[in-house]
Amino acid sequence: MGIRNYPLVGLVFLTHALLSSADTVVLPATSFDTYSTLEQYWAYLYPWGSDHNGSARMVGNSSDHEHISVSGGVLTLSATPVSGQPPSTSNPHPAINYFSGTIHANVQINVDGTDAVGYQVEGEFISPTAKGTWPAFWLTAVNGWPPEADIGEWKGTEQIWSNTFRTASDVSSSTVPWPADGNFHCVKAVTSDLTIAYYLDDALQATHNATGFLGQAMWLYMEGSSGSPGPSGTTIFQARNVIVTKLTS
Ligand SMILES: *[C@@H]1O[C@H](CO)[C@@H](O)[C@H](O)[C@H]1NC(C)=O
Ligand SMILES: *[C@@H]1O[C@H](CO)[C@@H](O)[C@H](O)[C@H]1NC(C)=O
Ligand SMILES: *[C@@H]1O[C@H](CO)[C@@H](O)[C@H](O)[C@H]1NC(C)=O
Repeated sequence: MGIRNYPLVGLVFLTHALLSSADTVVLPATSFDTYSTLEQYWAYLYPWGSDHNGSARMVGNSSDHEHISVSGGVLTLSATPVSGQPPSTSNPHPAINYFSGTIHANVQINVDGTDAVGYQVEGEFISPTAKGTWPAFWLTAVNGWPPEADIGEWKGTEQIWSNTFRTASDVSSSTVPWPADGNFHCVKAVTSDLTIAYYLDDALQATHNATGFLGQAMWLYMEGSSGSPGPSGTTIFQARNVIVTKLTS
């Protein structure tokens, strides 16, 4: 199941919309072809910098590709143990035990009900499942928090989580087994103004209530962070064929 096994027009099964000719690919599958395309469609680190609420500090820029690299259409994020770092600058200020990588898309996901009646966000991933790793392919609000939609979150087990945060305490979560066979598998979300549907390979896994997402711009991220107790060596997270399609009808 390594290769995406269906044509673009076949992707939306269950929501209100079929991809139509007016729908627009706003982030194409070629974004990991070269550093030039990477930097056209993505930015290094988080929008706010290198630190978040985990124990990994994100490292990378246009001249440092040790933790964030692309080659042949594949993005590789790698996490390595580190010591002697100051704690995270983000709440709750955990100790930094790893250097890792993250990128966020330049395009924002904003279902406004007119220009965009929905978005389809998809990609193929190889994820570590080692305890302490916590990579994710996720959306979070540009202004404040929530909303957040974790399209795929791997929490160091052979499971994948999809979470929809309507508020900090009003959350839907679905968990399904992750085929940790070393091959790429496709993770996808289709969001409209009221629902968000999550897929693994071509199978619908869950549809969550996305009340409150209307008009809320969201960032798309990918990260390969590691926690504690975490791996003693390098772990990698890979992505390819990441595509964002704006649905207009
Ligand atoms: C860290 O932040 C992410 C994204 O905002 C959230 O999903 C996660 O639950 C947070 N983890 C902790 C330990 O607070
Ligand atoms: C890139 O990051 C490295 C450290 O990882 C730093 O030494 C260098 O100055 C940075 N370059 C740019 C262009 O920001
Ligand atoms: C969706 O969630 C909102 C907020 O929790 C709730 O008011 C509404 O009833 C839910 N809608 C459905 C169809 O469950």
